[in-house]
Amino acid sequence: IAAAATALAAVLVALLAPAARGVDRSEFPPGFLFGAATSAYQIEGAYLEDGKGLCNWDVFTHTHTGGIMDGRTGDVADDHYHRYMGDVEILQSLGVNAYRFSISWARILPRGRLGGVNAGGIAFYNRLIDTLLQKGIQPFVTLNHFDMPHELEVRYVGWLGAGIREEYAYYADVCFGAFGDRVRFWTTFNEPNLLTKFQYMLGVYPPSHCSQPFGSCNSGDSRREPYAAAHNIIMSHAAAVRNYKDNYQEKQGGHIGISICARWYEPFRNTTVDILAVERALSFGGPWFLDPIFLGDYPVEMRKILGSNLPEFTSEQKKKLKATRLDFIGLNHYTTLYLKDCIFSPCEVDPVDGDARVFSSSVNDDGVLIGEATGAPFYYSVPDGMEQVVMYYKERYNNIPTYVTENGYAQASNNSMSAKDFTNDTPRVNYIRDYLTFLASAIRNGADVRGYFIWSLLDCFEWTSGDTLRLGLYHVDFNTLKRTPKFSAKWFRQFLKGSLVGT
Ligand code: NOJ
Repeated sequence: IAAAATALAAVLVALLAPAARGVDRSEFPPGFLFGAATSAYQIEGAYLEDGKGLCNWDVFTHTHTGGIMDGRTGDVADDHYHRYMGDVEILQSLGVNAYRFSISWARILPRGRLGGVNAGGIAFYNRLIDTLLQKGIQPFVTLNHFDMPHELEVRYVGWLGAGIREEYAYYADVCFGAFGDRVRFWTTFNEPNLLTKFQYMLGVYPPSHCSQPFGSCNSGDSRREPYAAAHNIIMSHAAAVRNYKDNYQEKQGGHIGISICARWYEPFRNTTVDILAVERALSFGGPWFLDPIFLGDYPVEMRKILGSNLPEFTSEQKKKLKATRLDFIGLNHYTTLYLKDCIFSPCEVDPVDGDARVFSSSVNDDGVLIGEATGAPFYYSVPDGMEQVVMYYKERYNNIPTYVTENGYAQASNNSMSAKDFTNDTPRVNYIRDYLTFLASAIRNGADVRGYFIWSLLDCFEWTSGDTLRLGLYHVDFNTLKRTPKFSAKWFRQFLKGSLVGT
């Protein structure tokens, strides 16, 4: 019966899913950025070289037993620190015009503000940026992609202590000063909405706080801490943006934004309570950060549910936040989930969206599967979610220029798989093609989308999943570190050349 139900569900997905067509580069505006993305801790390795300090993830992966599924660390990762020239050649061979990467804070300021700037770290990013520009590739730089100097994490318990704001503002200033003459695109933070939940609610990212045991984590207050940390991130972001606008932007001519984790949701049942659950979950996602930044305060749904656990902005801060116009938003979009209400209906609560009180399920009330499963849990291929999510942010923030700063397909790996099992990645090709089709449709419907980055250029260290989830356009053999293009890399190259019409 179970097998028949699954088969029926698959047929229903095929019948009910909006059909994706082929997609062509000419459907995107001239000057559109097409790129691939990575982050420092996930690819660089060289964790103790040229004066770099330890970052929080260096310590976490070495000391937090069981914290990483396969026990891996980022000590070597893809060894990009030593192989960056070859990696830039790979980017060039793909034909991209932009590359999104992050700067390791601990390479620039090994001990934070008080320890001084590390010339070795500055020199590395100068080399990388210059090499990219020589090949005609725009650097699209993230200042914070989950990592921070270990010493600061200890001193401020990550983002919980208000002192971290000045530390971050100083770090951002050093980067604008050192690299801003050549960098045209800055983002202050990557996915702070996911980061703070993973750090202070689920306890799976350092400093690993949680109130209910969930794996091995340190005790904390998960009803308050994610929001207190987020508040400090928003104020840190605002300080960096104001500094950039007041002291660098005119001279350097760049743009500054923020990237958020932007899932899409569909109601589990066609009922008011489930439709409201979707609205709540959406507010607890990107708007948690973007509403304060653009509209001056947290979403009302959050205030209603969290009450005094959600910090307040003073009226002076609200004014300042609204007055500092951000240039763009970055959306990291991978998947769509069904959500069920858990406030008015009895149901189990999904821990990730616990405070929004929503429950997710892969099959809805009518037995329709949300989309094709991929290698990762809670992660389905639902291409039209791309258009829905872009239009939602377009409406909410007055058609702010938008970049899709991440989209990609996770493949689960195990030791019995051959190199071919990785490189013949037809499901990834289909996923990227179909998501791009719906992105093009959002643009036709008026969304001001200016760029799209595939996560990721290379298979890399996938945080708590270690090396067990692979998202690269290039396969990396983690023993030899050899890079091999997958079908998806070849497909992307053809797409960028404009020679895929009708596929
Ligand atoms: C989002 C994160 O920004 C990135 O670091 C991660 O590897 C990808 N999603 C895939 O899970």
